[in-house]
Amino acid sequence: MPDPSPAGPTGERILVTAALPYANGPLHLGHLAGAYLPSDLFCRYQRLRGNDVAFICGSDEMGVAIMVRARKEGISPQELVDRIHPQIENAFKAFGMSFDHYGRTTSETHRETSQDFFRTLARQGVFTTKTEKQLFDPEAGIFLADRFVVGTCPKCGNENAYGDQCEKCGTALSPLELVNPRSTLSDATPELRETAHFYLPLADFQDRLSAWIDTHPEWKPNVLGQIRSWLSDGLRERAITRDVPWGVPVPEDVARDMGLDAEGKVIYVWFDAPIGYISATREWAAGRGTPDAWRDYWQQDTTRLVHFIGKDNIVFHCLMFPAMLMAHGDFVLPDNVPANEFLNIEGEKLSTSRGWAVWLHEYLEDFEPDLLRYALATTLPETKDADFNWAEFQTRVNSELADVLGNFVNRTMTFATRYFEGRVPPLENASDMDRATLAAIADFPERIGTAYNTYKMREAVFQTMALARLGNKYFNDTEPWHTRRTDMEACANTIHVSLQICGALAVLMDPVLPFTAARLRNMLQLGGIAPSTPRMGAFASSAATPAESGASPQIFWGDAAAPLLETGAPLGEPEILFTKIDDDVIQAQTEKLHAAGAGSAGGEDAASAGSDATGAPDAPHPPVADEASFDDFMKLDFRMGTVLEAEPVPKSNKLLRMVIDLGFEKRQILAGVRKHYTPEEMVGRRVAVVANLAPRQMMGLESQGMVLMAEDRDGSLHPLTSTGENGAIIR
Ligand code: 2FM
Ligand code: ZN
Repeated sequence: MPDPSPAGPTGERILVTAALPYANGPLHLGHLAGAYLPSDLFCRYQRLRGNDVAFICGSDEMGVAIMVRARKEGISPQELVDRIHPQIENAFKAFGMSFDHYGRTTSETHRETSQDFFRTLARQGVFTTKTEKQLFDPEAGIFLADRFVVGTCPKCGNENAYGDQCEKCGTALSPLELVNPRSTLSDATPELRETAHFYLPLADFQDRLSAWIDTHPEWKPNVLGQIRSWLSDGLRERAITRDVPWGVPVPEDVARDMGLDAEGKVIYVWFDAPIGYISATREWAAGRGTPDAWRDYWQQDTTRLVHFIGKDNIVFHCLMFPAMLMAHGDFVLPDNVPANEFLNIEGEKLSTSRGWAVWLHEYLEDFEPDLLRYALATTLPETKDADFNWAEFQTRVNSELADVLGNFVNRTMTFATRYFEGRVPPLENASDMDRATLAAIADFPERIGTAYNTYKMREAVFQTMALARLGNKYFNDTEPWHTRRTDMEACANTIHVSLQICGALAVLMDPVLPFTAARLRNMLQLGGIAPSTPRMGAFASSAATPAESGASPQIFWGDAAAPLLETGAPLGEPEILFTKIDDDVIQAQTEKLHAAGAGSAGGEDAASAGSDATGAPDAPHPPVADEASFDDFMKLDFRMGTVLEAEPVPKSNKLLRMVIDLGFEKRQILAGVRKHYTPEEMVGRRVAVVANLAPRQMMGLESQGMVLMAEDRDGSLHPLTSTGENGAIIR
């Protein structure tokens, strides 16, 4: 797709979707780096370009992942999603996600839209039906779909593979392929019972899908690689209904026509979830008073449809949903599916069940959203897995945002306020360097815009910061602190040109730093910018300045190529845009992460886990760790001790600080047990301790060992104990 002309509205109609997150837990940085930040960068840029954008997302509230989580908490799926949906929506809003509409798949519109879609495909003879033996739990009285059954993976021997996938080797499975299957609901050995289902015969679409994919050689290689591998294996039919009590019901009329009983059957979550994009677009259009306008986005072949997702969703968005759209016939196909790879945290795979994650709502308690938007945007896993770590976050904030961007804006504004009465000074008798610098600004909108438009978000953000670097260098080279004494005209020229760079930055940094860009525009009194956020709806006001909201758009992305500020125009008060982050703040974040990570082995509450939560009481037992030699075992020194003192660690909701008598000495040991035991309950207990573990710093305190606990699958903890004397060796 060619990049539109540099200036002015181009009016391309772009429908952008971001994967619907499961409403079974809060958002973490992995979510943001996969689908959400990149899609928001893209949409904000496209709106500033003057394009007609609909940015659609919502909560994925159906499916077995929701049921598993709700059972674990002992509540209904509806209660769970009613609690989690607003949490996710609020976190997105606070982070600056500029959705035009954020829906939910429990809505009436979604039920109707997905049932209509299902009905249309059924009437066109797209589906097949089949009666097959499936696993049934005689105790729970339910068929065991997807995550309701575990067993041994036939491929790698993992004893805890799920009914739909082995997470160890990645193989897609069906429940019947599991060796020694058992129900995660009751631990019962399942029986085989007959049940009838609808199937989508993907093989019928293989040729059309292949031909269509061949028309998109420009897609990211990581996406094309996965698709080609699925296609070369040959596509197989997929069951698209389930016998579970939570989901969009299979329409009765359709089932009747095909000789099936709809009772107790729901549509498979991966069939209804992508239709959620359509339902949410319908809700958005209805909310604007133009109920049919959704068709312009989904059914006009001039629309550019883009799905932003994480790599685990590629098969569904590049093969299954397109097959559904092709079969229906009335819909556009995606123009691109720029899937990202995964984000690791501090060099380790992100795992919500192990507590190895940085949660968005916790981040927002401590820092501004723009800092994370910038730091993540510079490390997005665009072509391969990437790593987030707190030290690098600090460097990005201190050495780039504060030292380069913040410093440049501050110097410029301070000079303008002090020496030019808070107005834009004139440019007269410009030097070669002044002229060259103004000319250099002109290239940035196109360079940054092309990167955004071709899904190279990291490159776009790098080029944005390059403009601030250019400004800083120009300021240094022209030395206005000297010229203000020796050559006031030259000093005025420096501040004029620097202010023009600030003006360009106030537009061009809007996608990545929307809150800061709005502050900068206020400082520059730069009104009339085309909003990068929706002009209506729930997420509309996140970063518009008072001057902008309601103003008719005049300045677009491409206008930043030319000077935006008039000579003599008044400026606002200078403000510090970024404050540097101290080492101890970063250390506290690192310790919090390690404490939560350690706390799950030693007691993290898995209630905050996302879609990979496995700690349910009815979850499988975790696999036994890799084999250790006798020598490995003998390296560890376990001793009995008695807890003498216990108290909560300040600012930690997980850790207790204990003093433990080991007979030969007393030790300070920190343990993530606060949610399970009060200090009073711990004092006096006999506990087993790893006595020769290297000391660790946690929340600024040294932990000199580890207290051993037995952890149930629901995360509850029980100290290991014995009657041996303090200091007794355990082996
Ligand atoms: O993987 C997930 O988190 C799914 N809930 C994504 C759904 S995307 C779309 F199809 F709705
Ligand atoms: Zn396996």
